[in-house]
Amino acid sequence: MNIMNVDYTTRIPNNVGLAEDARVLKALETWHPGYLNWWKNMGPVGFQESLVYLRTAVSVDPKGWAKFDYVKMPEYRWGILLAPAEQDRKIPFGEHYGEPVWQEVPGEHRAMLRRLIVIQGDTEPASVEQQRHLGKTAPSLYDLRNLFQVNVEEGRHLWAMVYLLQKYFGRDGREEADELLRRTSGSADKPRMLGAFNEATPDWLSFFMFTFFTDRDGKMQLESLAQSGFDPLSRTCRFMLTEEAHHMFVGETGIGRTVQRTCEAMIAAGINDPTNVAKVRALGVIDLPTIQKKLNLHYTLSLDLFGSEVSTNAANAFNAGVKGRFQETRIQDDHRLEKDIYPVLKLVNGVIKLVDEPALTALNMRLRDDYTRDCEKGVERWNKLIEKTGVNFRLALPHVAFHRQIGEFRDIQASANGELLDEATWQKRRDEWLPSKDDGDFIASLMQPVAEAGKFAGWISPPKLGIDNKPGDFEYVKIAA
Ligand SMILES: [Fe+2]
Ligand SMILES: [Fe+2]
Repeated sequence: MNIMNVDYTTRIPNNVGLAEDARVLKALETWHPGYLNWWKNMGPVGFQESLVYLRTAVSVDPKGWAKFDYVKMPEYRWGILLAPAEQDRKIPFGEHYGEPVWQEVPGEHRAMLRRLIVIQGDTEPASVEQQRHLGKTAPSLYDLRNLFQVNVEEGRHLWAMVYLLQKYFGRDGREEADELLRRTSGSADKPRMLGAFNEATPDWLSFFMFTFFTDRDGKMQLESLAQSGFDPLSRTCRFMLTEEAHHMFVGETGIGRTVQRTCEAMIAAGINDPTNVAKVRALGVIDLPTIQKKLNLHYTLSLDLFGSEVSTNAANAFNAGVKGRFQETRIQDDHRLEKDIYPVLKLVNGVIKLVDEPALTALNMRLRDDYTRDCEKGVERWNKLIEKTGVNFRLALPHVAFHRQIGEFRDIQASANGELLDEATWQKRRDEWLPSKDDGDFIASLMQPVAEAGKFAGWISPPKLGIDNKPGDFEYVKIAA
């Protein structure tokens, strides 16, 4: 079988030769009903009978891997897709640097690999659960379709991790695959594994912030796992990254369209002061200071996903050849980092300052810095949009010491500018930097669904281009009565 094309003859589309792999095919077919059950119980609320204009992967060829068509979500062909193998690929970092990549799990690194795959796998269904109520308040059919596209692909990413567990980890892999369907986002007794994936996604601005900031953490994790010496993991993550790009597009353009609409409404009404929140809100759009607060929240929740700045786990995973750096193969160094240092922002005697740490233990910090740089570019593009309308306001990423639950700054309070605060001052000023109950209520009041093709809610601009080059009035979702 040609690796570029996907085999649709089994119930589970794949390019890994499942038809000839009876053991794994059976394990996946046993898991499948539980997955569908999970999708029905924990996936999107409503719309399961509606026809959604979705893309499905039909190939892993970067030049044309997807086809678009109307599908009912429960009938989406979730499949197992790996990017093509790279000939003679070598482990690109760590103590096995330069050795041929592994096609089977090396025994000494088995526990570490399984844990990383389970953690990645856990985030995928978690986001579907977090977003399950958004369908009923979608600002347009275009946005509704994008939400569902993200949801089915996160579902597929779960399949991707489950395949690795079932194919390479035997019995305990199968147990972990089952557990991935048992934990639930926000559950008191069986929550998802990471903090940000147990938070609520109450409204569409949160959804866009989530897909911009939290899916981007996902991108960084996938990028570093795509460097892995365990080749099946590398190839799996490489293909997931092609899908992930669309999720971040949805986030960036969603926020961009919200900002655009707000600025245009302000200009039309002759409002010059963006901080005059009451006046701006009276126009039925989300004021820029509130957008900044949402940004502060989602950015900092996502920073926590990178773990402690200084981490021996991260060093071990790198040494082992299991998890590399962002764009490892493009970095010019020895890829072992035994003698290197990396500056880490730390709290030293009550002062925030850069401290040189061994580069190996500072790998989480490095990946997080790469992430921040990536986020900054998006923020700059939003600022260009604002500037063009003539409104005088800039969005910015808050300081990394602000609002943290994990790492160096978890025990202190700081303002969005990184000024240290005592607890009382923080409590008093919190609502200046994070969405308040009032802010949430106001946003919720705008979340009225718009289900007519080509129409958009008043708080968000239409997109510049349709999906799959469709015209502006295209019916992206045919809602079942
Ligand atoms: Fe994903
Ligand atoms: Fe994603």
